Amino acid sequence: MQPRKRHVLLWLLFCSGMAEALEPISTTIAVGMAAALTGILVKNRNIFYRFHECCRPEWISFNETRLKTDLESKLFGQHIASRIILKAVNGFMYNDNPKKPLVLSLHGWTGTGKTFVTKLIADSIYAEGMQSSFVHVFTSTLHFPHSEHIATYKSQLQQSVRGKVINCERSMFIFDEMDKMHPGLIDSINHYLDYHVKLDGVSYRKSIFIFLSNTGGDGIIQTALDFWRKGRDRKEIELQDLETTLSQSVFNDNKSGFFRTSLIDKNLVDFFVPFLPLEYRHVVQCALAEMRAKRLKPNHDVADKVARDLVYFPKSERVFSVKGCKTIESKLDFYM
Ligand SMILES: Nc1ncnc2c1ncn2[C@@H]1O[C@H](COP(=O)(O)OP(=O)(O)OP(=O)(O)O)[C@@H](O)[C@H]1O
Ligand SMILES: [Mg+2]
Repeated sequence: MQPRKRHVLLWLLFCSGMAEALEPISTTIAVGMAAALTGILVKNRNIFYRFHECCRPEWISFNETRLKTDLESKLFGQHIASRIILKAVNGFMYNDNPKKPLVLSLHGWTGTGKTFVTKLIADSIYAEGMQSSFVHVFTSTLHFPHSEHIATYKSQLQQSVRGKVINCERSMFIFDEMDKMHPGLIDSINHYLDYHVKLDGVSYRKSIFIFLSNTGGDGIIQTALDFWRKGRDRKEIELQDLETTLSQSVFNDNKSGFFRTSLIDKNLVDFFVPFLPLEYRHVVQCALAEMRAKRLKPNHDVADKVARDLVYFPKSERVFSVKGCKTIESKLDFYM
């Protein structure tokens, strides 16, 4: 048998639960051969589970402590996002019978940690993190670049999401660059995000959908700047301070993938999560974290140099980093 075919057969046998289906048979047929075969299957299955990712608790199980610790220690300057995400993911993952999939929409300026947070969420649920075959990323400019092909993209996206959820109900879908997505495309999957027990025999209720965009970023910056100008602590900013500006931009941005979608009209998004622009001190924290990630001794002088090298806005006050923490990694290589 060809290695690929053998692999698929093993997957079907062990991952899809066919091995379990064989077990009751072995109990009714009191034949030593069957028992021996079952024994071999169970033993091999256990070995197989350990080495090959399956849609099973061995590979998918939520680690609340890990998410909490990661959000507290690795995500800088995002007290609102951190709090909402922890609550939302906890509530969803501990609910054995959710009524709908979890839908999060993350908004904010570039380099503020939106993609980074999706990694932290994936790490807390999937043993393989972002490398998991149950985590799927769709990037607008990569997967749906041509607006004239929207009809094809719609049916492809629908089929793709359906197939992936049939394969594993605990799937995670990340839609990056929603602000560059053709308005209407996301409507092709809006039924999946709604309150349905099953659609064509498929239940989407245990999956997670995360949308990422810069939509609403300007309003968030304005609020953060107002607080800063009044000398108020950034941590005093509450979700309510940002909700109006956020929902207005999400509703009214006629170029974004949210525009006039059922996603918004039908309130299918469970949480809109604002990401604040990052200040100098957060950039320093990012530089130090990056040194640790590279197993280098954290050096505050170098972190300061890296942070000073970035551009800050508005021009007069230079409060927020134009690129957030985005270019820190490459800058460090230059300074260390
Ligand atoms: N708030 C943060 N705390 C810690 N690290 C951060 C934060 N924001 C950004 N970073 C670092 O900067 C890198 C780039 O950030 P990320 O890709 O998450 O930005 P983004 O918000 O998704 O930006 P964009 O809108 O351009 O996609 C991350 O991999 C992470 O290392
Ligand atoms: Mg991103």
